[in-house]
Amino acid sequence: MNRDTAQINIKTPPPGPKARKWAEFHRRYAARSTYHEAFIWDRSQPAVGPFVTDVDGNVILDFVSHVGSSALGYNHPALVSMAAKLQTIDPDRYAGCDFIGAWGEDPEKSEIPTPSHLHSKLMEITSQFGFGSAFFTNSGAEAVENAIKICYDHKKNYGYGICFYGAFHGRTLGALSLNRSKKIQRDWFPQIPNIADFPYCTCRAHPCNCGWMVCCTGKEGTRSRLDHYLDPDIGLVDPEEVAFIILEPIQGESGYNVPSMEFMKEVERLAKKYSIPLISDEIQAGLGRTGKWWAIEHFGVQPDIITVAKPLRVGATLGKTELFPQQEYRISSTWGEGNALSSAIGYTIIEVIQKENLLDNATRLGKYFLTQLKGLQKKFSFIVEVRGIGLMDGLEIDSRERRDRIIRQALDRGLLLLGCGYKVIRFLPPLDVRQREIDMALEILEEAFRES
Ligand SMILES: Cc1ncc(COP(=O)(O)O)c(C=O)c1O
Repeated sequence: MNRDTAQINIKTPPPGPKARKWAEFHRRYAARSTYHEAFIWDRSQPAVGPFVTDVDGNVILDFVSHVGSSALGYNHPALVSMAAKLQTIDPDRYAGCDFIGAWGEDPEKSEIPTPSHLHSKLMEITSQFGFGSAFFTNSGAEAVENAIKICYDHKKNYGYGICFYGAFHGRTLGALSLNRSKKIQRDWFPQIPNIADFPYCTCRAHPCNCGWMVCCTGKEGTRSRLDHYLDPDIGLVDPEEVAFIILEPIQGESGYNVPSMEFMKEVERLAKKYSIPLISDEIQAGLGRTGKWWAIEHFGVQPDIITVAKPLRVGATLGKTELFPQQEYRISSTWGEGNALSSAIGYTIIEVIQKENLLDNATRLGKYFLTQLKGLQKKFSFIVEVRGIGLMDGLEIDSRERRDRIIRQALDRGLLLLGCGYKVIRFLPPLDVRQREIDMALEILEEAFRES
């Protein structure tokens, strides 16, 4: 398949008969989860960039990139060749917090990037925050777990944690305690104590009325709810006992919400004022997706810890060295750190982003895409809002039913999309997406809007 000439080709609207057969086979023993049963990727068939073949031979334009976990789309040559170099080595995963895996005699001359090289590479792209330590895991949720463990350890108490309405930080018990997106993700699961939540302000006019700002008795004017909560004079909590503040710099799961600059600056101000570590969860928004390495950079905010996973293929907790436990055994992992294949791929993804100037591509084509979407908004009054930064973009539709119809109509025409939040469509094309591919997506979207 040639990316320059590839065309969308729908022979049988998905799910075709073979997709149904695969879904039925999978469903037989797979635990009930969140499977998308209409699009079934045929891994034995051609795929390049955002173009992918499904089991019924349909060529589909994938604008969700496995929820951002294939940042460079399908079969990027640099990743395929790196994987081929490692193909003959077994195990590709080992207990990497217990054993160090080298490649050759000298780390400076290593032909293959090892997890140790990936540490260095990640420090290169977080040097603006003064980070000096990295810890790897198998998933994003574990990266979050370790981020909060590091903070609890640093504060040496069982303190409070602060999260925000709409947050999604993962599905393990610690991480899900910080979720405030969908109730179903938390119901009946035990949660860590003392997690306080606050509005995530996306208001464009200030002072806003989302509940983030409050009027305080005994104080002049308005102030943020978090300012009020942490005020030692008021005495709701002792800010010394707050172990961390965690936020997504753009909320993913709950609807591609972009916070206001004032909100982000206020959170940073309070984190600094009370020396509370600020964790930026960039598992969906990080690693170049928004046109900067880290989405939080768009707000000029300095985090103390960053979590990343999906686009890196490795879960990683990155941060200031002084926050990490200096004692052995405080943090470790089973085999997360020793993921030889994923670490080499993760390293190569960063190199490709650097060599191919993909931060610029995400900025430029992200602007183009958002401008075109705003043009469509003028034609279709049911589009409530177009939002996003770079290539992490969302469309809020007037109803959930219409949103679902649009996604369905788009897939019938060969464009794969996903919903998020209550009635939002999310777009996560590959970071090297081309204008031709965006134009193809826009043409299908417009048809889907007409039919919705
Ligand atoms: C912002 C954010 N945090 C955490 C997670 C959890 O990551 P994982 O699914 O790798 O456990 C996700 C996954 O979607 C996410 O988007």
